[in-house]
Amino acid sequence: MSLLLLPLAALLLQADSYFSEEKYPEESKVQPPTVVIAIIARNAAHSLPFYLGALDRLNYPKERISVWAATDHNTDNTTAMLKEWLTYTQKFYHYVEWRPMDQPTSYAGEMGPKHWPNSRYEYVMKLKQAALNFARKRWADYILYADTDNILTNPETLNLMIAENKSVIAPMLDSQGAYSNYWCGITPQGYYRRTAEYFPTRQRHRLGCYPVPMVHSTTLLDLRKEGMKKLAFFPPHQDYSWPYDDIIVFAFSCRAEEIQMYLCNKERYGYLNVPAKPHQTLEDDRLNFVHVHLESMIDGPPMKPSRFVHVFPKQRDLMGFDEIYLINLRRRQDRRDRMLFSLNELEIDVKVVDAVDGNALNSSDIKILGVDLLPGYYDPFSGRTLTKGEVGCFLSHYFIWKEMVDEQMDKALVLEDDVRFQANFKRRVLKLLEEVKQVELDWDIIYFGRKQVNPGSEKEVENVHNLVYADYSYWTLSYAISLQGAQKLVNAEPLSKMLPVDEFLPIMYDKHPNKVYKSNFPNRNLQAFSTHPLVVQPCHYAGDPDWVSDTETSTLWDDDSVRTDWRGSHKTLKGAAAAPGMLSAAYKDEL
Ligand SMILES: *[C@@H]1O[C@H](CO)[C@@H](O)[C@H](O)[C@H]1NC(C)=O
Ligand SMILES: *[C@@H]1O[C@H](CO)[C@@H](O)[C@H](O)[C@H]1NC(C)=O
Ligand SMILES: *[C@@H]1O[C@H](CO)[C@@H](O)[C@H](O)[C@H]1NC(C)=O
Repeated sequence: MSLLLLPLAALLLQADSYFSEEKYPEESKVQPPTVVIAIIARNAAHSLPFYLGALDRLNYPKERISVWAATDHNTDNTTAMLKEWLTYTQKFYHYVEWRPMDQPTSYAGEMGPKHWPNSRYEYVMKLKQAALNFARKRWADYILYADTDNILTNPETLNLMIAENKSVIAPMLDSQGAYSNYWCGITPQGYYRRTAEYFPTRQRHRLGCYPVPMVHSTTLLDLRKEGMKKLAFFPPHQDYSWPYDDIIVFAFSCRAEEIQMYLCNKERYGYLNVPAKPHQTLEDDRLNFVHVHLESMIDGPPMKPSRFVHVFPKQRDLMGFDEIYLINLRRRQDRRDRMLFSLNELEIDVKVVDAVDGNALNSSDIKILGVDLLPGYYDPFSGRTLTKGEVGCFLSHYFIWKEMVDEQMDKALVLEDDVRFQANFKRRVLKLLEEVKQVELDWDIIYFGRKQVNPGSEKEVENVHNLVYADYSYWTLSYAISLQGAQKLVNAEPLSKMLPVDEFLPIMYDKHPNKVYKSNFPNRNLQAFSTHPLVVQPCHYAGDPDWVSDTETSTLWDDDSVRTDWRGSHKTLKGAAAAPGMLSAAYKDEL
């Protein structure tokens, strides 16, 4: 820098501070638009804590929000819960309108709480219209409708929707399946029409805000726009001939007023529950919701309950097992927390066992335990021998079998810590155990989660639903094991001829293709079965964006020099083929 410039710079600084004294205060910021949130709750006790928790966490000034809340025809604790929440939170909001109604508990002609006779549709239309009238009367800028099983886990959802500047807009919500809160097509009679756009949108293969003929369940209406003045939920438009259903009536109203509905899927905004079928019960609805909740723990952002609603502790049990073991590496607390949380939601009791950490095992420990490698064992994918991670994994399972034998436990369930439960896990397991008992099935092990190595159907077990004779399988994600099964596995003395535990099991039920390995274990009479469909899946697969490997950096079992991990086979790859020649390109890159 030239010296000459210095005085000039100093002068400029001075001038700047001189003028700033003359500055007037800037205009203050414009407040955010005013919003009415319409809550229409019926038999929602199972989802309300999470629904309200999401509202608590919406990143929007509460003093710019009014709440319009109604309950009706409840057989559960919905009204008390909503009232409790409002008692604590009303001071934060601009205004609260509270319209509780518990009696009667059902509509005329209603066959069950999930059945929708016309009387029920009409009542819901009237409630939605009352909320809309309220918002208009108070000159609110927006009204947000969100069904009580729609959980807006993304706290920016309201801001993001407002920023799109549309008359009627909905954030795409995720569910446990293809279901969501929009249609891409509508028939001339006003019914749902399948379209080619639906799945690419639902799966976020295309991202944006799209014009669609129907959004429902969670929708934001911009009441400042002129065209919105005539929109109505009730009474239906004078030309209305479509089905008598609140969402279709409203879509028709938008169409009649030439208002376009939009759906956004740019981000993950939250979840919705797949509606229970008309003949189903509130308990079915609750179980569906538990499932969506658990999925939100994996794919995130997770649901969290409101601090302002009392939640009762769950009653957990062992589903008839003597023990349920959760194998967890102590250093993977994230997985332990998620699994304990999930199992609590499923009302299942569990005993956490610390997995044997391959990292901490040195070769002298391994020797003391009497561990030796099965001669000639090579991993089918990498061609290397056993890793310390695999030794740790084997030992973790082995110690459980040993404990069962020592304590003469009738049956146990084993779970690894990176699993996701299929819908109705507990109910399905209870039903299976019941049927297995009824037919007096002689079983040693039943896979709940595994990878079937060779595609093709396996023989079904007679008179037991959803159970097959297990063929060659990988993984030990989850299995039920009987005392007799544990005894057989321990008797085989596998520590001194170790191979990965998920290769050992198929050897023991005589379905392993490798005759040389098998020859080391003469009594291969394990009675192995598998649920079909599986009731447990891995959370993440190798190659998924979220996949954190505990296993891929493993080192050899007798080498102390390099960091190792828990398991260690590339079998974790989604769709990994049984033969090394068929590995995907992605997998080869990882090698
Ligand atoms: C209903 O909810 C209220 C408020 O959360 C709570 O105090 C009450 O104990 C609940 N009653 C039942 C039967 O769950
Ligand atoms: C929002 O849309 C309206 C038309 O409805 C338009 O007049 C206005 O300029 C838009 N606002 C912004 C910030 O884009
Ligand atoms: C192996 O680890 C154990 C503790 O687990 C330790 O006592 C022992 O000295 C270690 N041996 C070697 C050879 O590092």
